[in-house]
Amino acid sequence: MRCVLILICLFALVACGAAQAPATPDPTAGGKRLYTMWCIACHAVQADAPGGAGPNLAGVATRAAANPDGLSAAAWLRRELVNPNAVLTQGYRPGFMPTSYGQTLRPDQLDALVAYMLTLQ
Ligand code: HEC
Repeated sequence: MRCVLILICLFALVACGAAQAPATPDPTAGGKRLYTMWCIACHAVQADAPGGAGPNLAGVATRAAANPDGLSAAAWLRRELVNPNAVLTQGYRPGFMPTSYGQTLRPDQLDALVAYMLTLQ
């Protein structure tokens, strides 16, 4: 009987340990979470979504890769994120997109947002 109890305790310990093991960090998932917190109010990501205050981000990775500034797609997206007035998206006026993300978000959060946007082909 005691042996069974010890086995049950051991099993419980192992199961708890497994549950507490750190999840593999997935910047894309983290970025999607951040997008739903900070960006979704102005930016849709579904191609057929109605227009919002900001440009639809469907296909933004493709646009980023074709940027005329010679930047990598990731570098271009990061610049759009921290300095949105550097190059305005055609048809939009400056001053709408907050310019504070470079200060208010941590570097790893900016990386995660860029990783997420790179999935929006
Ligand atoms: C209050 C509205 C607003 C919020 C919130 C906002 N944006 Fe924007 N965003 C805009 C507007 C307006 C533009 C177009 C003008 C410009 O280029 O600055 C834009 C442009 C962009 C572009 C360039 C898109 C393109 O196709 O050229 C990217 C990328 C972008 N935003 C990402 C983000 C991300 C990521 C967040 C959240 C962290 C965010 N934005 C939050 C309004 C917003």
